[in-house]
Amino acid sequence: MLWGLFGGKRERQAHINSEHVLTVAPGQDLLSAGLEAGLPWPHDCRQGNCSTCQCRLISGKIRARTDFETVLAPDQLSEGIILACQSELRSDVEIEVALEADRPAVPVVHCTGTIRAANALTHDIVELVVTVPGLEHKGLAGQYAELSYEGLAVPRSYSFAKAPSNEDPDELSFYIRKVPNGEFTEWLFAEDRVDTSLKVSLPYGGFRYHQGESTMICIAGGSGMSAIKAVLEQAALDQVERNALFLFGARTQQDLYGQEAMEAVRMAWHPEYSFEYVEVLNMEPEDSDWSGPRGLVTDHLKAAYVETHALDIGSAQGYLCGPPPMIDAAIVVLEAEGMSTEQIFFDKFLDASSIPGGRAGG
Ligand SMILES: Cc1cc2nc3c(=O)[nH]c(=O)nc-3n(C[C@H](O)[C@H](O)[C@H](O)COP(=O)(O)OP(=O)(O)OC[C@H]3O[C@@H](n4cnc5c(N)ncnc54)[C@H](O)[C@@H]3O)c2cc1C
Ligand code: FES
Repeated sequence: MLWGLFGGKRERQAHINSEHVLTVAPGQDLLSAGLEAGLPWPHDCRQGNCSTCQCRLISGKIRARTDFETVLAPDQLSEGIILACQSELRSDVEIEVALEADRPAVPVVHCTGTIRAANALTHDIVELVVTVPGLEHKGLAGQYAELSYEGLAVPRSYSFAKAPSNEDPDELSFYIRKVPNGEFTEWLFAEDRVDTSLKVSLPYGGFRYHQGESTMICIAGGSGMSAIKAVLEQAALDQVERNALFLFGARTQQDLYGQEAMEAVRMAWHPEYSFEYVEVLNMEPEDSDWSGPRGLVTDHLKAAYVETHALDIGSAQGYLCGPPPMIDAAIVVLEAEGMSTEQIFFDKFLDASSIPGGRAGG
């Protein structure tokens, strides 16, 4: 048995589905140990908010970092369901979890990178390019990395803004929006950070392309362009045989960016299928020169595609990325128009303000 000493406390073992044995360090959560070992453990937020990482504790003791009751139902709690991303081990445990059969098992790696560039895309969004020597990027388009600088207590999550095969081999690109009073983003925007060292861990997250023949309806807002762009770039590289519609919601023309990248996706899309990119503004001054659609992306989706019967939403797949309220609103519309919950994939950009009780440690 692998009992060892680690920081003065004992490592513990987690027996997963009676098949895999994980060694979990003191202070480490069960999900992190699983991902570092390369298990395709379902997860999204890693902050105790989405419940995607849920699993069943068959035997043993854990310490819950957050209150599971906020995301798990009473019957789940009584069945021993726990959140792996918020569970530290107090003893060896036996766990049952539905691992993802269709996701490649890529172990999470921890590296050191250097900021190569921070290119302004809008007044509050930068493209951050990080060089990681020797990086072998095996993540999927749609997944994310965790970034932190020296002294930041809790790393922050940022989605890959490029399909991995479109990146230079030792680089990672992100689109990062400045959040007022946000610790990481205020630091990033405060001064020229080129050549600053960052800790980088990757890949994380379950958001990615899903096979299908139906139209992909993609909706993003703000820096949520990043993960959708990466997924669409990958779909274009793979020459998927299906149509795609991407609705990008922003406040004003000042908040628009990425048009060249979207044109590149359109040019690279399978020639027998359509790729349409539409920008929708909801706070553009009435008297401006904007001739494109106005209002919320979801209203535009209904007016321009549902009511005109230009699109059968019930048979399409949804890909949503960006601020949680926008995603919640889009899910309501897509489901009301007949899209099944299983065909809606999303990546919520949760931050400390959208997590009950803020962010532990940060
Ligand atoms: C899977 C995932 C992918 C993401 N990808 C991206 C991406 O590609 N691009 C991007 O721009 N962002 C992305 N995010 C969001 C990103 O991880 C950060 O949360 C965001 O950049 C804010 O970080 P910050 O340190 O600047 O702000 P934080 O310090 O985390 O604060 C955020 C806001 O919460 C407020 N706040 C702080 N503490 C509390 C508290 N206790 N209670 C209430 N409010 C509080 C702050 O004042 C601030 O307004 C993603 C998030 C997730 C979960
Ligand atoms: S609650 Fe654990 S990954 Fe979201």
